[in-house]
Amino acid sequence: MKKRVLVTYNMFRTGYAELIKKYDVTFPPEGRETFTYDEVYEMLPEYDVLQSMFNFPVDRKLMERGLPRLELVSNYAVGFDNIDIPTATELGIAVTNTPGPVTEPTADLAFGLMLAVARRITDVDRRLRIPGALEWTLLANLGYSLGGKTLGILGMGRIGQALARRAKASCMNVIYHNRHRVSPEIEQQYDAKYVEFEELLKTSDFISVNVPYSKDTWHLISKEQIELMKPTAILVNTARGPIVDELALADALNNKRIWGAGLDVFEFGDKVSPEILACDNAVITPHVGTQTYDVRNEMAEFVSRNIINFYEGGPVAFVNKVEKRK
Ligand code: GLV
Repeated sequence: MKKRVLVTYNMFRTGYAELIKKYDVTFPPEGRETFTYDEVYEMLPEYDVLQSMFNFPVDRKLMERGLPRLELVSNYAVGFDNIDIPTATELGIAVTNTPGPVTEPTADLAFGLMLAVARRITDVDRRLRIPGALEWTLLANLGYSLGGKTLGILGMGRIGQALARRAKASCMNVIYHNRHRVSPEIEQQYDAKYVEFEELLKTSDFISVNVPYSKDTWHLISKEQIELMKPTAILVNTARGPIVDELALADALNNKRIWGAGLDVFEFGDKVSPEILACDNAVITPHVGTQTYDVRNEMAEFVSRNIINFYEGGPVAFVNKVEKRK
């Protein structure tokens, strides 16, 4: 019997071509963007694989509902904070993610946000459209150059390193903090210097958050950490919203305690705090780090490959370790 895969969201089918050929794949009906949690809960016992999106909660209740048939949760994202991993492992359900295709586009966006904030691109764009709202002189609308400035990368994984490459090409100095120091070869490749967390906060002109979200990184950047930053600092977050205390950040931006922020993710999901919306010195985007035509398909191919290889052999990007069922 063909394996059955339940996909929680509607996506271009191109990247799924091979999966659709081999397995019985269910997407939400045409015209609907996603299945609701309750719909997935109803349908799940009939499926071997749940293919979840990064904002779809995969909790104990849902995974227990999927048993005894559910054996794989294949997440469409590198982040997997939407999934209760210890429970998946306890229940013998494998979990996979999509590290490959997300790296470069997320680093592109982080770099784009740095540039947009530093050069006030969206700020002047907004005001230029309103008669009289912008002063068109040589000393109005000043921003900061990137060249010669220090970028502090919090989390020197794949995305952090891809950002370091862009920063180096723009003549920035790169420092980083990570749970574990990366190899001397990697440090050399990006001229990146390891520093303690506090030193990074105190000495960086730009700070980019690139750590995974877990209970250990909740509010990693809060009032106390912001207090240590330079008044000209620019904070960029393309990782997960709750890593930054959003209201503390909004307060710092409104009071010009730091110079600006570029945010692709928000503490309360798609409910961006009004305090952040009110900050002209914040450039905000709606979690679009991987939202390009190319990458949406590449991620679909990657999740498909994870599923096919899980059953047929070959490389799989596992995020937990479980005994394969007979
Ligand atoms: C996107 O946010 C991802 O985790 O891939």
